[in-house]
Amino acid sequence: MCGIVGYIGQAGESRDYFALNVVLEGLRRLEYRGYDSAGVAVLTDGEISFRKKAGKVASLEQEIERAPLPDAILGIGHTRWATHGGPTDANAHPHVVDNGRLAVVHNGIIENFSELRAELSAKGYTFVSETDTEVAATLLGEIYNNEAEGDLTRAVQLTAQRLEGAFTILAIQADHGDRIVAARRNSPLVIGVGEGENFLGSDVSGFIDYTRKAVELGNDQVVTITATDYTITNFDGTPASGKPFDIEWDAAAAEKGGFDSFMDKEIHDQPAAVRDTLMGRLDEDGKLVLDELHIDEAILRSVDKIIVVACGTAAYAGQVARYAIEHWCRIPTEVELAHEFRYRDPIVNEKTLVVALSQSGETMDTLMAVRHAREQGAKVIAICNTVGSTLPREADASIYTYAGPEIAVASTKAFLAQITASYLLGLYLAQLRGNMFSDEVTGILESLRQMPEKIQTVIDHEDQVKKLGQDLANSDSVLFLGRHVGFPVALEGALKLKEIAYLHAEGFAAGELKHGPIALIEDGQPVFVIVPSPRGRDSLHSKVVSNIQEVRARGAITIAIAEEGDEAVNAYANFVIRIPQAPTLMQPLLSTVPLQIFACAVATAKGYDVDQPRNLAKSVTVE
Ligand code: G6P
Repeated sequence: MCGIVGYIGQAGESRDYFALNVVLEGLRRLEYRGYDSAGVAVLTDGEISFRKKAGKVASLEQEIERAPLPDAILGIGHTRWATHGGPTDANAHPHVVDNGRLAVVHNGIIENFSELRAELSAKGYTFVSETDTEVAATLLGEIYNNEAEGDLTRAVQLTAQRLEGAFTILAIQADHGDRIVAARRNSPLVIGVGEGENFLGSDVSGFIDYTRKAVELGNDQVVTITATDYTITNFDGTPASGKPFDIEWDAAAAEKGGFDSFMDKEIHDQPAAVRDTLMGRLDEDGKLVLDELHIDEAILRSVDKIIVVACGTAAYAGQVARYAIEHWCRIPTEVELAHEFRYRDPIVNEKTLVVALSQSGETMDTLMAVRHAREQGAKVIAICNTVGSTLPREADASIYTYAGPEIAVASTKAFLAQITASYLLGLYLAQLRGNMFSDEVTGILESLRQMPEKIQTVIDHEDQVKKLGQDLANSDSVLFLGRHVGFPVALEGALKLKEIAYLHAEGFAAGELKHGPIALIEDGQPVFVIVPSPRGRDSLHSKVVSNIQEVRARGAITIAIAEEGDEAVNAYANFVIRIPQAPTLMQPLLSTVPLQIFACAVATAKGYDVDQPRNLAKSVTVE
């Protein structure tokens, strides 16, 4: 949801006058956040020059090739996901106001922009775009020239106090060639600390090529960076401090590494994502250690309800986790889309544990749900993939998923890592509350430990699934059926196809088939069926095999995702995709993988941009 980058170096240093390259590189890495339009501004010899263009960063680069920008040691850039005003050149950032003296980029939504626009119009200001950003920039110019008397930092502080909603703003002013000033409220911003140069980014990928040192900025803070220093204050100007951290990813982790797309690479990263998420959490004897859960054990013992909140793929990971957590901990567990939870007056109190799942840690819907839960006295545990993001800072405790940077908009490795981390949490609670003996916990941990290798086996057989994707790419619709943990996997399989292949797809609980969805089945309708282990409980397996028969009898093309050795499916499935044997609760870590590969293959066959699907953004920082 908009990527922002800022860079300031100094003449005579190694990246002397290459601000433009640094900013463009940052924008390319942040492009997953939004790609409707992009722009940059650089400041040289007291003059701001800028280019902006509808379309992706590549279009901006073409524009700069056509009309080059001067060398500079200071630059800001933006890649946009449109909210106010369509994706046009005029609405693209930066917004340059005050006779070309002030340039602003912005991520978020300024909720009181209409009032501010009216107020500024009454003073004679005119606007060339439909954006809330131009209003903020104009207000900043007005304050800079009057109340702040030419002090850029003061002007940003005063402007931030007048803005409502969520925003990160970066501002440069022609008379201040030595600084970028930024403000943040409810939108992400991280400082990258270099030697003789400093950076700002929506997240660390904006400057990962140049430094591994970063500083988290708190909410409602303003930072002024120069080439050698950074100063943080609150909006009222009182001194404040950020939280330094080291970036553990390297630049290679944010590259495609020879794969055709980030999504393809990230599917292949999954064994490592699960392995790394387990790493350090199992001691030498295979026992569970979760040192990061700094919540009083007595509080965790008193929990009488768990609510998992999340959006998109993370919410499906939450649905998988519910089966495990309830089974292991015997605590009633609900899973709810964060935006629905927030606005339905949920029953939450000090005995409620809210678990918030988010890859980015910046999903505004999830953050709002967490804030609401904490206001009602609930404790919140975040399961998050992004160090330095907002969610872990606001939660009472966090368990990080170590999936590494996920760049493709459609989530893959974060999903598997979220399931893994939630399972660790479930086992920890079960152990703490005495629901399971430690040897039972150890047994499950051992199954988890084996999963990376099994996931690799599924990936090793990707060619069969890719071929199927090519063959079925022209289908009008694809259906997915599953029971128990296979149900959220079916939902996730359908979501992947919608997101990147723009193909109508639905996931259903297989038991629900006869209550409606079976009416959709006609000749040639592809139906994926996630088949539970025949060794599992409650005759789920035979019920799902019956479901395959039912749709096959009505003309469906049936694709079964079934365990090695499960021969019962052969008679009714047109295609069988094999996954290694694993306990039922571990199966989602395997059965999801072919569905990801399938969606990627269909999207590729249709010639779509797999990593940057239309209309979507990876990190949705508006409600
Ligand atoms: C967006 C992305 C999805 C993601 C969801 C939640 O909609 O396109 O891929 O699952 O946000 O994101 P989070 O960062 O909170 O996991």
